[in-house]
Amino acid sequence: MKKIGVLTGGGDCPGLNAVIRAVVRKSARLNWAVVGIRNGWKGLIEEDMIPLTDRHVSGILPKGGTILGTSRTNPFKEQHMIDKVLETIKKYNLDALVAIGGDDTLSVAMKLSRMNIPVVGIPKTIDNDISGTDFTFGFDTAVSIVTEAIDRLHTTAESHHRVIVVEVMGRHAGWIATMAGIAGGADEILIPEIPFDIDEVVNNLKERYDSGKTFSIVVISEGAHPKGVERLATISDEKDEFGHVRLGGIGHYLGNEIKKRLNVDTRVTVLGHVQRGGTPTPYDRILATRFGVAAINAINKGNYGTMVALQGNKIVIIPLDESIMEQKTVDLDLYEISKIFFGKTTSEKIVDEVF
Ligand code: F6P
Repeated sequence: MKKIGVLTGGGDCPGLNAVIRAVVRKSARLNWAVVGIRNGWKGLIEEDMIPLTDRHVSGILPKGGTILGTSRTNPFKEQHMIDKVLETIKKYNLDALVAIGGDDTLSVAMKLSRMNIPVVGIPKTIDNDISGTDFTFGFDTAVSIVTEAIDRLHTTAESHHRVIVVEVMGRHAGWIATMAGIAGGADEILIPEIPFDIDEVVNNLKERYDSGKTFSIVVISEGAHPKGVERLATISDEKDEFGHVRLGGIGHYLGNEIKKRLNVDTRVTVLGHVQRGGTPTPYDRILATRFGVAAINAINKGNYGTMVALQGNKIVIIPLDESIMEQKTVDLDLYEISKIFFGKTTSEKIVDEVF
C-alpha cells in the first residue's frame, strides 16, 4: 500500500478537480491512500492536508477551480521553507507526490525530484505554454470562453461600426489569442511571440474599412508588445514568489492608438479571469482524467522525476526537465493561417477581374 500526496499549484484552471478525482479513483483501485495537500506547496510548509476518498471527490468532475485550493508559494525561496516541506513529506510518510501545475510548480517538482523525492508532474495551464505536451487541460475551456466572447463582441461591434480590442491571457505565448482568434474570426491577432508594428495593425484595419467593412475585432495577448518595446504592460510591478509581475493594459494601449490613428470609435474588453473560471469542456475533463490516471500508473511503475504529457493522441511520460526547459510558443504555421484573414478582403476584386 502506498500513500500519495496530491497538490495543485499556481493559477487555477478548469479540469483540476477532474485530475484530483482521477488520482483518487485510480489510487483506490490499487488500494493506495491519497492525501490532499492544500494550497499548493504551502500545504506542505503549513502541514495543511486532508485525506481524500471517493466521498471527497464525488461530484467534482464538472466543477471549475480546485477543491484543494492553490497558491503561488515557492518553497525554494527560503531554506527553512524547503526544510519544512521535506520534513512534512517524511512525517506523513508520503511515498510519492503528484504535483499538478504550470512551469513554476513543475520547476519546484523537478528540484525536489533531484533531492530524491518521488514526484510525478501533471501539466496544467490555460496558456498551453508547457513544452513536451501538445495540450494542457484548461486550454480548451479557455479557448471556448474566448471564442464565445468574440462571437458576442462581433454583433455589438458590427451594430456600432466599432473596433473592439479583446485582451486575453497569455503571458509568454499567444495560444489562446491565436486559437480563439481563428475560431472567432478575428481581424487581427497580436501575440507575445511576434512584436507588433502599430502602423501595420492600423493599416490592416484601414484596408478593411476601405473595402467596405465597418467593424473590426482585434485579439491581443496580455504579453504582446510593440516592436522595439521590451517592457510588458503591467497592472502592478509587485512580483509573486516566482518573480512574475501582473500583466495587463496592452489592450487599452492598443485601443487608444487605434482610435487616435484611425479615428474610429474603439472599445476595449479585458476578459481576465473569466477565462479561467467555470466548468471544463468535455475535452478538458477527458484529458485531465487521462493525466490523473497516467500519473498514478507512472508512480506504480516507479517512473519518478517525470511528467505526463499528451503527444498526438497518446499519453506519454517524459522527464520533468524536458517540460520546463523552455516555454512552448505558438506554432507559427498556425499563426500564418490566422493572417490570411487580416486586412484587405480581395475576393470581390478578383471576381470583378475574372468575369
Ligand atoms: O496561469 C497563467 C495565467 O493565466 C497568465 O496568463 C496570467 O498572466 C496569470 O495566469 C494571471 O494569474 P493571477 O492573476 O492569478 O496571478
